[in-house]
Amino acid sequence: MGTRSYAKTAAVMVALASSLFAQPAGKQATQVTAVAGESWLSHLHRTFDETSMGKTGRLGPAEPTTDFDAGAVKLASVVEKQYVTVHGADLYRLNCRGCHGEAGLGAPPEINSVINPVRAGSTTLVMERMKKAGMSMSYAEASKLARQSQDAILQRLHKGGQDMPPFSHLSEPEIRALVAYLKQLADVPGAEAEQLAVRETPVRVGEHIVKATCHICHSASGPNPDAQQLADGAIPPLSALTSRVNQAQFVRKITRGAPIVMGTPPLACRGRMPVFYYLSEEEAADVYLYLSLYRPYQWATFDPVMVVKRPRESCTGNRYG
Ligand code: HEC
Ligand code: HEC
Repeated sequence: MGTRSYAKTAAVMVALASSLFAQPAGKQATQVTAVAGESWLSHLHRTFDETSMGKTGRLGPAEPTTDFDAGAVKLASVVEKQYVTVHGADLYRLNCRGCHGEAGLGAPPEINSVINPVRAGSTTLVMERMKKAGMSMSYAEASKLARQSQDAILQRLHKGGQDMPPFSHLSEPEIRALVAYLKQLADVPGAEAEQLAVRETPVRVGEHIVKATCHICHSASGPNPDAQQLADGAIPPLSALTSRVNQAQFVRKITRGAPIVMGTPPLACRGRMPVFYYLSEEEAADVYLYLSLYRPYQWATFDPVMVVKRPRESCTGNRYG
């Protein structure tokens, strides 16, 4: 990725930014906004080592990989697509999978499974369960209970849970598609036939991933940590990522894992960030595009580099070779 492609990137971004503002009224795309504020883990005062949140990916390769074709993901290929089709299953993958995993089971006791709460939203299943327990319940009563469970899930998406972030960036059509998929995931009878999709811009896809997944660990902005601070547990802010690495390195770090220089003396380490192998290279490029176009910012005062004191093992057992 040389200066030439950077210039191209910039031109493409300007073109894209203006095309976003030229949305015809009425057919307007969902408003995309920058990511803001501290990471979800900082918010919870939970350290990286104490949580399963955002960690359903895999640990990066033990050896640096060389088979990655840096030119393979062209930003242009992302931008050429004005819209992409995003299914309910994709919305789940972009927004929920980082914590709840592919099957929705989470990581109890920290992260509850979504399966039973979703099944409790089905009148048929509520009636079945009551019958099995030897209790009789009218259809009306069962559907009232089911509606309460459905409301609890919607409420949770809008406002968050005790330890789950709110998903206020989701639009109504996105929530409908997501909920339809949750039912399929939970094996609710008839759910397969009710699956929905939405049309979205690539930046919007990037926004989903950043707000729901990257922002779990990365704060929106703040000081850019040096190699020693990284070894001590600092996580670079989202605002620094697009200048720390170029688009190809970024895509690689997210989809395959890439070394990061840490410690004193600086050494190439495997790092601690999970590899989000379930995101495509195009989606990772969408994230880069989103972070470049919508500058992440802190709500108010900016935090000092959040350094969690770790034993000095950071790069041993983590180091290549
Ligand atoms: C940052 C991690 C995180 C992400 C991302 C996340 N959740 Fe959660 N979720 C949690 C945690 C932690 C709990 C349990 C504690 C609580 O209620 O906050 C939970 C609980 C739930 C429950 C309720 C379980 C119960 O026992 O009632 C549902 C349903 C749920 N999540 C759905 C979702 C959906 C849908 C998404 C994606 C839009 C999502 N979650 C994304 C962390 C997360
Ligand atoms: C579970 C926590 C966690 C999540 C979630 C997470 N990261 Fe990271 N990220 C880290 C940590 C920790 C580092 C520091 C380097 C390392 O340990 O790999 C890092 C480093 C990076 C770097 C490397 C910066 C450099 O200088 O090489 C990039 C790029 C990055 N993250 C992007 C992302 C993106 C994009 C997402 C969302 C798809 C994301 N991260 C989600 C924890 C996380």
